[in-house]
Amino acid sequence: MITKYWHVDKDVDDLKSYPQIKEAAALLKNNEVVAFPTETVYGLGANALSEEAAAKIYEAKGRPSDNPLIVHIADQAQLEKLVADIPLQAQKMMQAFWPGPLTIIFQKKDHVLADKVTAGLETVAVRMPNHPLALAVIREAGVPIAAPSANRSGKPSPTAAKHVWQDLEGRIAGVLDGGETGVGVESTVVDCTAEVPVILRPGGITKEDMEAVVGKTVFDPALKNASERPKSPGMKYKHYAPNAPMYLMDGSRQWIQAQIDAARAQGKKVGMLTTTEEAPFYRAEVVIPCGSRKNLASVAHSLYDVLRTFNEADVEVIFSETFPYEGVGVAVMNRLEKAAAHRWRKEEEASP
Ligand code: TXA
Ligand code: MG
Repeated sequence: MITKYWHVDKDVDDLKSYPQIKEAAALLKNNEVVAFPTETVYGLGANALSEEAAAKIYEAKGRPSDNPLIVHIADQAQLEKLVADIPLQAQKMMQAFWPGPLTIIFQKKDHVLADKVTAGLETVAVRMPNHPLALAVIREAGVPIAAPSANRSGKPSPTAAKHVWQDLEGRIAGVLDGGETGVGVESTVVDCTAEVPVILRPGGITKEDMEAVVGKTVFDPALKNASERPKSPGMKYKHYAPNAPMYLMDGSRQWIQAQIDAARAQGKKVGMLTTTEEAPFYRAEVVIPCGSRKNLASVAHSLYDVLRTFNEADVEVIFSETFPYEGVGVAVMNRLEKAAAHRWRKEEEASP
């Protein structure tokens, strides 16, 4: 398949009259899959009402079809056609955070969405992305758009059109390039079908942000267990993984440098994932600052691009700085934990 590539400046006026947007939307209406930018990561979109279209997403990504997709909408009228009801907590969250990086789980209406989109569940995940190109293409397509991240399954999510191209060129109908995404990690997923909202995936909208609007929320216990450390490295938790094994480092600069030196002494090409503040202190083959420790949103923004850069540099082991489990730090650490398959190295546990 020849994959079309369209570049559109996201800041131009009257996007919907752009021929590139019309062409992308026409393909979506025709049950083809098209990648487009959102404020979090690039999505791989398809008509959420069509089994045929949804099947093409799983095929292009190489994703197991028991993992349900997020349905993207451009206005609230679209939501009412998809869900059985809109609980009060969900209403408050939508008002506060939509359009934006928050996905809400609702009870679905029967016989509307393709079964492949919800993987046969009684619930559906919905979000309204805060990106002018995404909103324009969804509006123009006139149907709700199912969209997982536009990467090959197991690869880091794409935060630039070139990442999508690397993974999916020849496998999808088109890519709409709107530049780098902003948030950089996938949306927060919150289940609003219970009285107390449950956070299933941490993201750009934090627990603190939500609690300011709805009162108490809780993290899904499965999430908490997975982030308890140290945790034995189970392959089933491995996601977003760089090619080289990665370790989360908890210790002083001197101790981390000693770990780097030990790996280099074994002849290994070492990558160090660090920050603008800490980068000057490390010596390794590939030292990459990933944002600033003073601004964890900047770490989230760059994280996946940095993981892909380590792949391109063919490093053999990656050591990573770690961050506090607070605010956006929870989302950053959740992705780092997965990328590292929960492998930690701690200074206090190391023998002298
Ligand atoms: O930021 C994002 O959310 C990006 C952009 C493209 O919008 N999309 C994204 O989609 O990350 P995906 O498919 O990679 O992640 C969807 C997540 C998965 O963890 C899936 O298990 C969960 O949402 N999910 C979907 N439907 C669900 C449901 N009914 N109940 C619980 N979790 C659900
Ligand atoms: Mg994904």
